[in-house]
Amino acid sequence: MFDAQRMSSIPFSGIRKVFEEVHAREAAGEHIVNLGIGRPDFDTPLNIKEAAKKALDDGHVHYASNYGNDDLRKAIAHKFERDNDLHYDYKKEIMVTVGANEGVFLAMLAFVNPGDEVLVPDPFWPHYFPCVELAGGVPVSVPIREENGFNPTKKDLFSLCTDKTKMIIVNSPHNPTGAVFSKRTLAGIADVALEKNLMVLSDEIYEQLIYGGEKHVSIGTLPKMKERTVTVNGFSKSYAMTGWRLGYVGVEQNLMSPMIRAHQYSTVCVSTFSQYGAAEALNGPQDELGKMVSEFGRRRELVVASLKKMKRVSFSEPKGAFYVMVNVSQTGRSAEQVAGDLLNSGVAVVPWESMGKYAKGLVRLSYANSYENLEIAMERMTSYFDY
Ligand SMILES: Cc1ncc(COP(=O)(O)O)c(C=O)c1O
Repeated sequence: MFDAQRMSSIPFSGIRKVFEEVHAREAAGEHIVNLGIGRPDFDTPLNIKEAAKKALDDGHVHYASNYGNDDLRKAIAHKFERDNDLHYDYKKEIMVTVGANEGVFLAMLAFVNPGDEVLVPDPFWPHYFPCVELAGGVPVSVPIREENGFNPTKKDLFSLCTDKTKMIIVNSPHNPTGAVFSKRTLAGIADVALEKNLMVLSDEIYEQLIYGGEKHVSIGTLPKMKERTVTVNGFSKSYAMTGWRLGYVGVEQNLMSPMIRAHQYSTVCVSTFSQYGAAEALNGPQDELGKMVSEFGRRRELVVASLKKMKRVSFSEPKGAFYVMVNVSQTGRSAEQVAGDLLNSGVAVVPWESMGKYAKGLVRLSYANSYENLEIAMERMTSYFDY
């Protein structure tokens, strides 16, 4: 009865719904392999934990700078140079956020006016729409299709631009499809952004999780794009640090002010001691990251090989992140029904509804689960689809 009007279009997360259902069933004694959640099942590497513990013991327990600790921002600037060929001044162009989530949310608060339209490749990560809407903006679905490896086309982007369009969201590697946008796709997006004078939010959280020789390209490196791009990244996926809530944003200096002001009056700063762990994640040895990526690669191969043999499903082979979208429309049943049946067979997946209108008929699987569990899940799915 007291709800603000702006909350009326904001749904409860569909992914969380699956999570709650799995939890309830497990509590009742059912064995479910949960392929619903996008959370690395590894522990945070020890050197990162030790650095945060030491920071606590050393008394780093007070407010940090709104921008983030100097050492961490230096490490982030160095990482952007080393991995992405992006050049940001650590003092003025980098801020540390409460996960990549906050970076996305701040970008909407900072740049989207009421009524502004934001183009979102659809299927999408379910947070983008509510983030745009909470800022008063209007999210607009851009279809991305299985037959095109889920890459958006320049033609679709152009055709959906209006005089209200303000921003395009780019997320590559992509949740939920596992697509990696090709350099050609990114160049097409850049053409649209330049011609229509749009900003780009580039969510690169899955940057390191990329397989089979694919290469991640940051759209901010394309000509004239840095000044209109908000590059968002974080520690959750690459370093198994989802619970630490640590992300970061790179923007050109003149875009920083509205973002930092929105951050100042919401979260203020990220917890100080955890930023020491994050600096260690970037500056320390990277072998744990390498091991995680190769394990995800092994699981991806298992899932892809199993799906290829399954009847009544189709999919576009994922190249990054740890997701695959499976088209179940050949079953003659809706994706929600299939997700329900699979849950009764002991496998949790996420049906399309929360991931966009162009996700209709698809379910998302996450292979951020152990190889052994994935083997069980693939067997259960194979027998379900083989009727
Ligand atoms: C595309 C995408 N962006 C951002 C995030 C959020 O990352 P963080 O944990 O850093 O807030 C996720 C998490 O699932 C994601 O899938």
